[in-house]
Amino acid sequence: MSTAWTSRYAQRTKHVKSSAIRELLKITQRPEVISFAGGLPASEVFPNDRFREACSKVLEREPNRALQYGASEGYEPLREMIARHIARYGIKARVENVLITSGSQQALDLIGKLLINAGDRVLVEAPTYLGALQAFNVYGAEYISVKSDDDGLRTDRLEPSLRSGPKFMYVLPNFQNPGGTTLSEGRRHELVLLAEKYGIPVIEDDPYGQLRFEGEHLPPLVVLDRENLRGDDGYSIGNVIYLSTFSKTLAPGLRLGWIVAPPDVIAKLVQLKQGADLHTSTFAQAIGYEVARDGFLDEHVKLIRRVYRERRDVMLEALEQNFPPEVTWTRPQGGLFLWVSLPEGMDAQRLFETALKENVAFVPGDSFYAPNGNAEEARRHLRLNFSAAKPDQIREGIRRLGIAVKRQWDELHPLPVGRP
Ligand SMILES: Cc1ncc(COP(=O)(O)O)c(C=O)c1O
Repeated sequence: MSTAWTSRYAQRTKHVKSSAIRELLKITQRPEVISFAGGLPASEVFPNDRFREACSKVLEREPNRALQYGASEGYEPLREMIARHIARYGIKARVENVLITSGSQQALDLIGKLLINAGDRVLVEAPTYLGALQAFNVYGAEYISVKSDDDGLRTDRLEPSLRSGPKFMYVLPNFQNPGGTTLSEGRRHELVLLAEKYGIPVIEDDPYGQLRFEGEHLPPLVVLDRENLRGDDGYSIGNVIYLSTFSKTLAPGLRLGWIVAPPDVIAKLVQLKQGADLHTSTFAQAIGYEVARDGFLDEHVKLIRRVYRERRDVMLEALEQNFPPEVTWTRPQGGLFLWVSLPEGMDAQRLFETALKENVAFVPGDSFYAPNGNAEEARRHLRLNFSAAKPDQIREGIRRLGIAVKRQWDELHPLPVGRP
């Protein structure tokens, strides 16, 4: 007799759906499809030679350490390097503030495990990173969504939501996924002050901060919180936990991310991580360290910025040429994504189906809204990734997408009979 597995699944699995993006990526892997769907970095800029050298060096110099079990907190030289690296953005951290994770995605899961009881509400942006919703859903999170606009989260709408007592806020201040928008400096100050006033902790997720192509770098929330509100002891206190990753600056296949938090929070997260995977791959950490060290990461990021800036410009120009004026989009100053808003009456999910017939793909916007987010509004958006496709493919893909957009627009606005 076979076991009825499904009847034995734990209660928490009921909240879990497979990621819309992962499902879409399966369809969009057909070679004839130009995909703006995934959040993939450009594979042409992966530093393959540096990785090859790093593998040889690690295996020659310290194979026993790199291939052995390691500390749950992470590989010490890498933690030290991250602490030094983030200091230039004003983030004060010692080694004991840094926990290495298997990508930022694991950091989000550990944060969920640490903070969320079933039914707790998490304050998120609308739209927000779908992977965070997936991670938090498992723990039975409910959501309070606060709108964002071209300057990021609407801090003028924050207070009533904070008053209703969310467990924490999850915010993406730089080149947001999916919006491509950046939280303005004024709003950063406001957000940190309001979080302090209502005693609500903040999770700052920053995978893209280093990928700024233009404009001034803005201070991270963790810096504004610790230095402006709590004096100079940035090591042991703070209302903001900061997350980042090497996925967009070196390679996502490494699966290396990190959490910066007060040491007592790190200690608790370490216990949770032990139950999850003991530690992040020692080998990956040793390689990541060897690749990034001696200033390589900084040099490499300059190349990525150049390549992505060009691709963003090509996409913006192609959108201008191929989309009707009623359609609008964000103009990101960095990162990997831009966010298209369709006029009322249009529907991104239907557009996706037409677009696939034209062999072009994107992610419909509704995936990025928490369950109680504005469903009506969610249907009128799409996320476009501009990092993965080459400029010629971007031009061709946006031309095809323009055809699909115009078709839906014309269906909604047929020319009156008798007019040419
Ligand atoms: C906002 C955000 N957070 C976290 C992640 C997860 O990144 P990682 O590859 O480090 O797990 C992503 C990946 O796209 C992301 O966009």
